[in-house]
Amino acid sequence: MRVLVTGATGFIGRHVAACLIAAGHEVLIGARDGRRAGRVFPDQRFVACDFTRDVKPEAWRSRLEGVEALVNCVGVLQPRRRATMEAVHETATAALFDACAAAGVRRVIHISALGVDTGIDLHYATSKLAADTYLQGLDLDWTILRPPLVYTPSGSYGGTSLLRAQAALPLFVPLPGRGDQPFQPVFMDDLTEGIRRLLEEGRGIGEIIPVTGPEPISFREILFRFRRWLGLGRAWPLPIPRPVMGLLARLGDLVGGGPLTTTSLRMIEQGNAAAPDHFTRVTGILPRRFDAVLAQHPAQVQDRWHARLYFLRPVLRTALGLFWVVGASVMLFGGGLDAGRALSGADPAAPAGFDLWQVPFGLALLSGLLLLFRIKARLVLACQVAVLAIALLWWMSSLVGLMLVIGWLLVWPNLMLFLGLALIFVATLMALALEDDR
Ligand SMILES: NC(=O)c1ccc[n+]([C@@H]2O[C@H](COP(=O)([O-])OP(=O)(O)OC[C@H]3O[C@@H](n4cnc5c(N)ncnc54)[C@H](OP(=O)(O)O)[C@@H]3O)[C@@H](O)[C@H]2O)c1
Repeated sequence: MRVLVTGATGFIGRHVAACLIAAGHEVLIGARDGRRAGRVFPDQRFVACDFTRDVKPEAWRSRLEGVEALVNCVGVLQPRRRATMEAVHETATAALFDACAAAGVRRVIHISALGVDTGIDLHYATSKLAADTYLQGLDLDWTILRPPLVYTPSGSYGGTSLLRAQAALPLFVPLPGRGDQPFQPVFMDDLTEGIRRLLEEGRGIGEIIPVTGPEPISFREILFRFRRWLGLGRAWPLPIPRPVMGLLARLGDLVGGGPLTTTSLRMIEQGNAAAPDHFTRVTGILPRRFDAVLAQHPAQVQDRWHARLYFLRPVLRTALGLFWVVGASVMLFGGGLDAGRALSGADPAAPAGFDLWQVPFGLALLSGLLLLFRIKARLVLACQVAVLAIALLWWMSSLVGLMLVIGWLLVWPNLMLFLGLALIFVATLMALALEDDR
């Protein structure tokens, strides 16, 4: 079967696509980033789709040629702009469904989310519910799947990364309140196998199916089971009061989606559980228990690295951002350039005109601000690494020259500055390596 998987480079989408490819289907990789799509699925055909732009059915027409089924795995949890959520979850999704109806692509499987129909006042939920409702009104062979938290031991993203990182903190495991919110996380392989069967056997048509694990477990229990699985030592639960959690989530929103955001906090607080009977009846799959899945997939050292480094990433990014903002501001506005001029013997009484040094410090300030607000962070860090590498090489060569001429004792203060910059270079390299979501 030729299946278009939209959101195929996402956490769920890539597993769905991989499962269908393994089952022998021809999978078209619907994604917005062609390079990433090529990296993840080098042998599959890429279909470009941007849900913020493709908001008219005509935009989809040519992409649906020869397609027999659609699995839509596109979604956003907390975009910077409200309009993005509306376009991605509602307008473009509706346009895609309309285009399917027009092109005769009757089979549509849409990944929604458990709890969107509970009346929760969250744009994430209301916009996803709007798409579900729209699809139900079309003459298509649709199935809407509503999973809660989806996990797999072989990798994590978003919510599950946050949980593993919380579980891996030293000594204390922070919990929202008492951490007794019920969850029913579902194993990725159960979800993807379910999708395969729904597609191949034409089951579940016209049904909204919750796809959950076999039993509810508390949020706190999930964290401590992850901790045991990671093989980490004893830790104590640390209940975090609601106002503090709210503040952290707002901070997460401000710096661009993470690690905690107001949407993810509300979803955690709401809990996420439902019986898996419907899914089992339709697909014949008995969802596996959380404990059993973890036991079958022992944690690797990479899992511990990722969990431990997860919170270090925003800390490092923020520290570097602050370093450049404060450092460059002192130079530009705090008299740093004047002091430099005075040291170099320039006439302090001379009128201050445009100084060429303002350019690099202006750029340093801009790069710091971009890092703080997590805008093009990878690109900014890569540029900083390149500039710092050149500066260090140049400085090193002049230091070696100076040492040969006047001896290392006189060069010592300069050497300390050099080592300081080298440290910033290493921290920037680390931040660049960590700034990788998928
Ligand atoms: N993961 C869970 O535990 C869970 C639980 C319940 C429901 N869900 C739902 O399942 C769906 C997939 O979730 P996920 O965990 O796989 O999330 P994800 O990893 O963030 O994947 C979302 C996918 O949507 C794509 N996307 C976002 N904005 C787009 C745009 N403007 N144009 C084109 N593609 C866009 C992303 O593309 P890029 O790869 O380019 O970023 C990514 O492929 C979502 O609808 C989510 O609400 C997930």
